[in-house]
Amino acid sequence: MTPATAQPDLNSIRARLQAIGQTQLLAFADDLDDAGRRALAARLAAIDLERVPQLAKYALTKDTHDATPGKLEPAPYYPCNAASPQRPWNREQYEMAGEALIRAGKVAAFTVAGGQGSRLGFDGPKGCYPAGAVTGKSLFQMLAEQVRAAGAKYGVTIPWRLMTSPLNHEPTIEFFEKHKHFGLDPKQVGFFQQGVLPSFNDATGKMLLAAKDEPATNPDGHGGSLKALYTSGAVEELQALGVEHLSYTQIDNPLVRMIDPVFIGLHAAAPDSSGEMSSKMIAKTDAAEKVGVFCKADGHVRVIEYSDLPAALTNERDERGELRFNAGSPAIHVISLDFVRRLNESPEGFALPLHRAHKKVPHLDLETGELIEPEQPNAIKLETFVFDAIPMCEQSIVLETDRFEFAPIKNADGNDSPATSYVLQTERAAQWLEAAGVRVPRKADGAVDCVIELNPLTATEESELEKADKPDAIASGERIAL
Ligand code: UD1
Repeated sequence: MTPATAQPDLNSIRARLQAIGQTQLLAFADDLDDAGRRALAARLAAIDLERVPQLAKYALTKDTHDATPGKLEPAPYYPCNAASPQRPWNREQYEMAGEALIRAGKVAAFTVAGGQGSRLGFDGPKGCYPAGAVTGKSLFQMLAEQVRAAGAKYGVTIPWRLMTSPLNHEPTIEFFEKHKHFGLDPKQVGFFQQGVLPSFNDATGKMLLAAKDEPATNPDGHGGSLKALYTSGAVEELQALGVEHLSYTQIDNPLVRMIDPVFIGLHAAAPDSSGEMSSKMIAKTDAAEKVGVFCKADGHVRVIEYSDLPAALTNERDERGELRFNAGSPAIHVISLDFVRRLNESPEGFALPLHRAHKKVPHLDLETGELIEPEQPNAIKLETFVFDAIPMCEQSIVLETDRFEFAPIKNADGNDSPATSYVLQTERAAQWLEAAGVRVPRKADGAVDCVIELNPLTATEESELEKADKPDAIASGERIAL
């Protein structure tokens, strides 16, 4: 017989809340029925209450920027063009090394999809957003088809793990089930939830109530993946399957290469990589582009978020007039499971640094119990960032990739919106088709004069288009999915 799992009870939690000065969370506990009290107890027990005073203190810190380490230099990187005199390297050698790892089943795909698509104004998991330039396929489907394509190409079943959060876990799984896992074997796909952190009143450091039976919390940032991979059992399960490396991508980028042998090979075999965590970079379009920047400080590579990089460095130019800190982060990494295990099993414990965001958080009025929808930011949300683990590596490499690999959908319009993503999807497909001899209509300024969406099952790289079924020419204004 399995022993009954102990239910958290409100009385023992009351004592813990008293000890940390947060008993306001029980303000309406007496109004709740038994189920409500159990729900409140379970939600409070899911928070690391003993850590709350430290979190609240940090939330109330007055500095507006997170501290940047002492002397920052631009991080070195492997240039996209391996023949570049700046740093020549052997692309084929690393491609072969990466391919060998993929074929041997040592690589899994991993996508972080726990965030709220609030900037996009989309109701539902962001991965359900229609992102295909012609078909309106969801982000989840576009990435799933890449996993299928890579599996077929390398003759292996590639496991795909997705991190969700309590905000979107159930609807994400329902979407995959409704769409029959987009042709993947359901056993190949796995989901686990990230943790949450409490949101704090920005003046008092008190935790807020989202409902009578629920403290206000937010997902703990994509950095939470490094913990959740371990605590959910995913590390153990994947290692038992023989997986050694995770190809880490964000849900918002339909053109990200889910499985890139060159990058995986460099991560695993480059002499200056400890094979723990590696990153791709894109050359920034301009100083103001809102991407994290790869720097080197105290001998370690790290990403400094754009909002934290001092303006003098953001705008600094070298003797050729190029941005000195030009290495933007498209948030693409390879992470080894041994590294995740080591972080979590470290005797000193493992915590990534916290970052703060001042936000509007709806909460209950403690006197009346009514829900207040603030018009101004009223609360501090705390998050962790996955890239803060990079300086915890012995040696971490950065590989430059082309701008086509970064076609994210983050905003409803303007930069990084569906419109800019469609242009990049079309332009990349047009260049590949032209190289394969297809006539693609272009306007006088060179812009492609049609809309093209290329299914990853047709081609995931230029060379694969040679053998694919394709028209001789595309007409002006045509919308074509290949
Ligand atoms: C992020 C990076 C930025 C990088 C850019 C590239 C941060 C702070 N900044 O910006 O350096 O240049 O991407 O696109 O990350 N997510 C979770 N759980 C969370 C929070 C986020 O899974 O708790 C996931 C989201 O679902 C998404 C990804 O992480 O897939 C990015 O999150 P988002 O907050 O949109 O990052 P950006 O501010 O766009």
